[in-house]
Amino acid sequence: MSKIAIIYASTTGNTEAMAQAVKEGASGDVSIFEASSFDASTIGEYDSIALGSPAMGAEELEDSVEELYNNIEGSLKGKNVSIFGSYDWGDGQWLRDWEDRLTNAGANVKQSLAVQNTPDDDGLAKCRDFGSKL
Ligand SMILES: Cc1cc2nc3c(=O)[nH]c(=O)nc-3n(C[C@H](O)[C@H](O)[C@H](O)COP(=O)(O)O)c2cc1C
Repeated sequence: MSKIAIIYASTTGNTEAMAQAVKEGASGDVSIFEASSFDASTIGEYDSIALGSPAMGAEELEDSVEELYNNIEGSLKGKNVSIFGSYDWGDGQWLRDWEDRLTNAGANVKQSLAVQNTPDDDGLAKCRDFGSKL
């Protein structure tokens, strides 16, 4: 059974709602963590990872995700990684920048999903579908 980690941060609950819907759609041995409590040394145990962060700063990752990402980046070569998150006024640049960083780190970026503000029913369905493809 494939082992999946969904790791996210969320400041007002929007990316968290996405993460829960991703988990609903996923099958296998699925664990969900907040980035601040994920043990970076266990990253190698997972066959597939979904990382979630809202757009913060100026098209940047939320701080705890940025910190975790810097700790795991060196372990992502060849790893299946999918990224998701909520944003508001931008155009998704933070997620494209993250995808570039992952690609440069040698990760296999499988999916990228941005949802504006609180996910509506359509957004939640997209998250479940994303989860089913982890
Ligand atoms: C300090 C701060 C910075 C933000 N920066 C961006 C940004 O650069 N681009 C953007 O599209 N939205 C930005 N937002 C909007 C958030 O990404 C948006 O509210 C999102 O839904 C928050 O998701 P969360 O509830 O999972 O934290 C920012 C919000 C805050 C509070």
